[in-house]
Amino acid sequence: MSEKEHKPLSPEWWRSAVIYQIYPLSFKDTTGNGQGDLKGIIDKLDYLNGTEQSLGVDAIWINPIHPSPKKDHGYDVIDYYDIDLELGDLETFDLLVSEADKRGIKIIMDYVLNHTSSQNPWFLESRSSRDNPKANWYLWRDPKPDGSAPNNWLSVFGGPAWTFDENRGQYYMHSFLSDQPDLDWRNPEVLDEMKNVLRFWLNRGVGGFRADAIEHLFKDRDFRDEPLNPNYNPETDNPYDALIHIYSRNQRIEILEIIKEIDEVLGNEKLNFMVSETWLCAEDLLEYHQASEKKVCMPMNLNTLGLPWRVDKFKDFIDKYDSLLNKDHWPNYIFSNHDVSRIVDRIGESKAKSAAMLQLTLRGTPFIYYGAELGMGGVRIPPESIQDPWEKQVPGLGIDRDVARTPMQWNDDKYAGFSNADPWLPVCDNYPEINVKKELEDPNSILNLYRSLIALRHQSSALTEGDYLPLESGNENVLAYIRESETEKKLIMINFSDDEAEVSFEFTCAGIILSTNSNRNSNAESNLKKIVLEGNEGCIFELQ
Ligand code: GLC
Repeated sequence: MSEKEHKPLSPEWWRSAVIYQIYPLSFKDTTGNGQGDLKGIIDKLDYLNGTEQSLGVDAIWINPIHPSPKKDHGYDVIDYYDIDLELGDLETFDLLVSEADKRGIKIIMDYVLNHTSSQNPWFLESRSSRDNPKANWYLWRDPKPDGSAPNNWLSVFGGPAWTFDENRGQYYMHSFLSDQPDLDWRNPEVLDEMKNVLRFWLNRGVGGFRADAIEHLFKDRDFRDEPLNPNYNPETDNPYDALIHIYSRNQRIEILEIIKEIDEVLGNEKLNFMVSETWLCAEDLLEYHQASEKKVCMPMNLNTLGLPWRVDKFKDFIDKYDSLLNKDHWPNYIFSNHDVSRIVDRIGESKAKSAAMLQLTLRGTPFIYYGAELGMGGVRIPPESIQDPWEKQVPGLGIDRDVARTPMQWNDDKYAGFSNADPWLPVCDNYPEINVKKELEDPNSILNLYRSLIALRHQSSALTEGDYLPLESGNENVLAYIRESETEKKLIMINFSDDEAEVSFEFTCAGIILSTNSNRNSNAESNLKKIVLEGNEGCIFELQ
C-alpha cells in the first residue's frame, strides 16, 4: 500500500462519504471453495482505498456475514455475535476493521433485525414449548378452528406467511422464507438483545449498520386479514401482490419508535450511523428521517432502482426528494443493489457512464454496488445454477436476484480472478473484457471514470455538501442541475438519450471539469450559450 493522507473521522462523516456495497460471497475467494470470504475483502482493500490506484471509497457495507445456513444467503442468522465459518472468524473480522481503518475505510454491517434463521438457538428454544423463556420472542398464533393459518397474510417470497409447528401446535409468522421466522419486536427482551447486537459490533469498531427489511418489523396487533388487491393479475403478477399489505408491514408509528431507540445506542458523537432498507416514496422517507432526533438514522432511498431512464421521471423524483429534505435530513442515492438487476441490465451499457456521473454528482451519499464501477452486467444464469430462494419459490416472474450477485471480475484469468475453484454462481462471459485489471489500464474505462468522479466529489464542497438547484434544460433528453457551496458552483448536464442534444444556458462557464465522453476537448466548448452533448454524454462545468 502506498501512503495517502487520511483525515481522522469527523462527526457525520457519512455525508461526504462514498459507500461501496460488497456481497461477500461474490467478492474474492481465498479458500478455494468458490465463495468469497473476509480474507478476500482484506486482500482487496487497496483496490478500494489507500493507494493512488484505488477507487477511493470511504466505507464498505457488507451483506450479512454471521453464521447462517444460508437459505437466503446470510439473511437467516444463527448467531449475531459471530462470523460465519465459511467467511472467516472474529479475529479475521477485527483484522478487516483495522486494515480498512488504515486505508480510511469504515465497515458497515448488515443488521438483520426482523427475523432470524429457524436454526437460531433463540427460535429452537422458542419452538420447544409454549412456556419456555423465549416462548414469546417470535410471532406464534393458534390455528383457526378448522386448523388453517391465523390469517391470509403472504410471504414476500411466495406462499403463506405462516408455518405450522407440530411441537407447539401453533403457527409462526415469517415475512420471508419459513426458514426465517419473524421476531416479536413488541417483546422488550427482543429489543434489549438486538440493541446488544449493535453495541457488540460498535465495540469492535464498525462505522454503522444497514438495517434489513425494517418495514416488516411490526404487524397489526389483531392480526387482521389483509384486503385483496383489485388490480392483481394472477397470470402475470407476483403472488405477494395479491393482497394490499396494510397490516403485515409498514406499521409506521412503532417502527419509528425503534429508530429512536437505535439513535440512543448509536450515541451522541455522530460517528456511527444506520441506514434502513425502505421501499418508500419520498414523502414517507421523510418521516423516517424525522424520527431520528440525532440525525444518525436514515432510510435508504431505493426509488431510483425502479425508475425508467427518462429525464422527466428522474427530475420529478430528485426535485421532490431534495426539496422535502432540509439540511438536517441527508439524502442517499442507490442505483444498484443485491436485490434487483444491475443498472447496465436495466438501462443498457451505453448509459452506464452517465448514470455514474448522475449518482456521484447528486446531493446525498452514493452507494455503489460492487462491479457497478466496471459496468458489470449481462449475466445469464442457467436454470440448473439458480441459487436465489425467491426465484426458486416463484419462478418465471423475472425476480432472479442471482444476476446481480455473480463473482467480481478482477482479471481475465479463469473465473475472472475471483477464485481458483468453480464459483457458487457463474462468472459473466464478458469477464475477459470487463475486469478491474483491464479497466485500470484503459484511461477511458468506466472504472477510471468512477475513480475521477469519486476524487472530484471528495475535493469539491459543492458536490459533497452543496445545495442542489434544479434547472429547466429546455431539452427533454437533458437533465441539468447546479450544485453550489459558498465557494463553488458546478453545472451538471446528463444526456439521457442516444442522440446528440443541444442546450443553452446564460451562465458563464469557467471550464469543463469532466465529461463521460473522452473526446470532449476541455478548452473548446465553454460557451454555455450553445452546448451540444453527445448521445449519453454527461458533463460537469465549473461556473463563475
Ligand atoms: C432484504 C434483503 C434481501 C433479503 C430480505 C430478507 O430485502 O435485502 O436480500 O432476501 O431482506 O432478509
